[in-house]
Amino acid sequence: MTNKASIGVTGLAVMGRNLARNLARHGHTVALHNRSTERTRDLVERFGSEGTFLPTSSAREFVDALERPRQIVIMVKAGEPTDAVIEEFAPLLEPGDVLVDAGNAHFADTRRREAALRERGLHFVGTGVSGGEEGALHGPSIMPGGSKESYASLGPLFEDIAAKVDGTPCCTHVGPDGAGHFVKMVHNGIEYSDMQLIAESFDLLRGALGYEPAQIADVFRTWNTGRLDSYLIEITAEVLAHTDAETGRPFVDVVADQAEQKGTGRWTVQIGLDLGIPITGIAEATFARSLSGHTGLRAAAEGLAGPRRAPLSGAAAERFADDVERALYASKVVAYAQGFNQIQAGSAEYGWNVDLGAVASIWRGGCIIRAKFLDDIRAAYEAEPALPTLLTSGDFRKAVEDAQDSWRSVISTAVRLGIPTPGFSTALAYYDGLRAERLPAALVQGQRDYFGAHTYRRVDRAGTFHTEWATEGRPEHPA
Ligand SMILES: NC(=O)c1ccc[n+]([C@@H]2O[C@H](COP(=O)([O-])OP(=O)(O)OC[C@H]3O[C@@H](n4cnc5c(N)ncnc54)[C@H](OP(=O)(O)O)[C@@H]3O)[C@@H](O)[C@H]2O)c1
Repeated sequence: MTNKASIGVTGLAVMGRNLARNLARHGHTVALHNRSTERTRDLVERFGSEGTFLPTSSAREFVDALERPRQIVIMVKAGEPTDAVIEEFAPLLEPGDVLVDAGNAHFADTRRREAALRERGLHFVGTGVSGGEEGALHGPSIMPGGSKESYASLGPLFEDIAAKVDGTPCCTHVGPDGAGHFVKMVHNGIEYSDMQLIAESFDLLRGALGYEPAQIADVFRTWNTGRLDSYLIEITAEVLAHTDAETGRPFVDVVADQAEQKGTGRWTVQIGLDLGIPITGIAEATFARSLSGHTGLRAAAEGLAGPRRAPLSGAAAERFADDVERALYASKVVAYAQGFNQIQAGSAEYGWNVDLGAVASIWRGGCIIRAKFLDDIRAAYEAEPALPTLLTSGDFRKAVEDAQDSWRSVISTAVRLGIPTPGFSTALAYYDGLRAERLPAALVQGQRDYFGAHTYRRVDRAGTFHTEWATEGRPEHPA
């Protein structure tokens, strides 16, 4: 028996504390460290009986409390604090030791840190962790990057504390260096998209049918028993059913309608642009949050004319909730298809060799986007690892094709009633864009050649062409 810890956690705010408790509850001895010692003391006082903790009050003491090779999980505020903590610990470590950053770092920072620490003989593992504070305590989805060797020792610990679905841990070695944080970033981007689509569904049911939030909660509860079964649909029903104790009004009506967008959603969109991957669902969801926050602009636009809103009636009203369910499902397939394409592109760009089926598998439990649906995505990528898009995969293709009449009808209703549905609309536009035989991009190329001599390619001949627009408008010979 050793009296040293198999793993240490530094940064004991809500996420670090719960991750440390989860490890201890699984029988691992956990060394504890935090910049200010109150958090360490507080954890041991309140939760010390849950397992074996070795509280420490200095970096040296912390490092000495760990078995070799040391494994240290950093769970501090992302950004400069992470660099500060790395600089504090790295000089105290020895070759082969493993530093894990489980915070929400940008994958480019993780690549930089990994390369620098590799030079010093240390393993640096950027790890995505999803599931919030409850997940960290009871079983998150864990997305570690870094070297294969580091996963050999770290993997069993992480798989032990991760959520399990059908006995399979929601943790896998995603790929080298920044792969884990990249995949976590896209997870969060998809989460934005999923939430926006659900919010639009609520707005449609209210605006087009005049339903109250409690009635809409019932609709979501029903949906949650079918193919949309997911954590986000489940909590949406609970939020909508909740009544504000002070006013007796539906909770959703007393909350200011201004959503925040922090790092990861914005990063996903920025990286989508860098890689040239149209993640339009995530982009619209991020911009929808931005729009909601522009209160001055919204106040200025308040009087702008819109259509008169008359709720649907008759057969159209009777069908509408089912139509919205189909439109939501189809839009969600598009959002996930785009997100997985972004991971595919990142993996190709950085040589990560990410297994998309394995990513879908570890998102089935523990994380915010956990859903029955992800098991179908896992199966699709397992059957065809190089699948170009989820939209062409067997069951998804059929479901989206079956949904398309409802999808178009819901968006038409939204447009007619003036209900904003950027998520639904962009998803359908993407679908129509992908399946189009000819796109107006040909005209865009003509315009670019006209004003900037950018050249174009032809459908009937190989080569690059330019037209002398001022004189003849005739193509030259291939360049
Ligand atoms: N909250 C979530 O649901 C969630 C989910 C997934 C991932 N994450 C990520 O997990 C990480 C931790 O999140 P959190 O909400 O638990 O905590 P947080 O509020 O992001 O960070 C607080 C922790 O960082 C430490 N810290 C801040 N600056 C420091 C510095 N310069 N040097 C050393 N330590 C420093 C604090 O130490 P002191 O106590 O001394 O101030 C405290 O332990 C973040 O990267 C976050 O993005 C959070």
